Amino acid sequence: MTPAEFRRHGRAVIDRIADYMEEVERYPVMSPSAPGAIRDMLPAHPPETGEEFDRILADVDRIVVPGLTHWQSPNFFAYFPANASGPSILGDLLSSGFGVQGMLWSTSPACTEVETHVMDWMVGMLGLPETWLSSGPGGGVIQDTASSSTLCALLAARERATGFKTNAEGLDGRLTAYCSTQAHSSVEKAVRIAGLGTKKLKHIDVDDTFAMRADDLSRRIDQDRAAGLEPVFACATVGTTSSNAMDPLREIGEVCRERGVWLHVDAAMSGTAALCPEFRHLQDGLEHADSYCVNPHKWMFTNFDCDCFFVADRSALIRTLSILPEYLKNQATESGAVIDYRDWHIPLGRRFRALKLWFVIRHYGVEGLRYHVRRHVELAQGFAGWVEEHEDFELAAPAPLNLVCFRHLGGDERNRAIMDRVNGSGEMFLTHTKLHGRVALRLSVGQTWTEEEHVRGAWEKIVKAAR
Ligand SMILES: Cc1ncc(COP(=O)(O)O)c(C=O)c1O
Repeated sequence: MTPAEFRRHGRAVIDRIADYMEEVERYPVMSPSAPGAIRDMLPAHPPETGEEFDRILADVDRIVVPGLTHWQSPNFFAYFPANASGPSILGDLLSSGFGVQGMLWSTSPACTEVETHVMDWMVGMLGLPETWLSSGPGGGVIQDTASSSTLCALLAARERATGFKTNAEGLDGRLTAYCSTQAHSSVEKAVRIAGLGTKKLKHIDVDDTFAMRADDLSRRIDQDRAAGLEPVFACATVGTTSSNAMDPLREIGEVCRERGVWLHVDAAMSGTAALCPEFRHLQDGLEHADSYCVNPHKWMFTNFDCDCFFVADRSALIRTLSILPEYLKNQATESGAVIDYRDWHIPLGRRFRALKLWFVIRHYGVEGLRYHVRRHVELAQGFAGWVEEHEDFELAAPAPLNLVCFRHLGGDERNRAIMDRVNGSGEMFLTHTKLHGRVALRLSVGQTWTEEEHVRGAWEKIVKAAR
């Protein structure tokens, strides 16, 4: 494809994306595709000779779009959001266009320096501890996902606790990790990958609000230590996936600090709320954390993938992950004056993800981002109010931000039926969880273009389905 052809087809693709933005609300939110239906439309063998680009693009509409669940629909209320925006998509496109690798500072200085700068901005924007700035002992890096951040945090915790011997000698089977019964499954995945073993992950009790009980955490850590085990890592959550519960960071932080346990804070979705000073109390005590992550790819208008990972002491992370083969040696690295982000995560290669985050922050401005976050919270709180007022429904958990967990009083089957009915209509999409062993429906407000009419429409559809 020559640059001239690229220009022509590129315009067509941008037009297609803009059309998609305009029409996304009209698609059935959850794809009605049956298993195998998409593959049935694809030829068994790849083409021997190249095809016209126009034909390829036409097949996107014919084959791909019907098989999409429309995460960018304003009627998408499922899971947690994975929202996007024009500036973010354009930043990502430029990143693809430049096609650079940012594993070392020297392989593209701008890729590293824009990232470091934007991560420093994020410290101020979210009210994170100033020691996490690149000018302090800590620092931030963009990872693909919160799952990767949690794994890196656990690896650094493991090495710090074992004097960096586990990397060389392997595990001795004594290391333990802790999270609440409500923590995301990525913590268990990290424990498996890091070699601790699922049995060494202790699930801590939660209180009535589904938040981790710091007293149970301290009891379990002390018990394990007395039994000859070595507690190394705890993960607290700001906004659990199931019900948006807020673990008490200050109390948990004190427990961890007194016992030398690495505290990782997973704020994947709800961390974005800290853009607004009035929500920062939800992360009170964050200065006790050894590491932290938030996903702009969930609620900060930055398309997947973009997870911001911060550490309080970068030396532990770098020492854990750094290997410098001859073929990567260069003067800048040897001078010690630059950051080489390859040492801050698992892959060697890395995309220029900071571009899209930089575009988003500059396009909206911090005040603009706050406006949208506040609006989503306000819409969710309005929905929670309607639930509370209705005699057949109740809230199933506190709703501190933009997720509302609720249920019809008619029992699990009735709630599942309501969910199937509204999702089956194609007009909206919500998901469920179980709280205290009972089904609860989850309405998560966070798509970029969701407005009051969509949330009100969702409530009306739910009430009608219940009837
Ligand atoms: C609290 C929490 N942590 C981690 C994750 C995993 O996110 P990622 O897909 O970025 O790994 C999620 C996903 O919803 C989440 O809600």
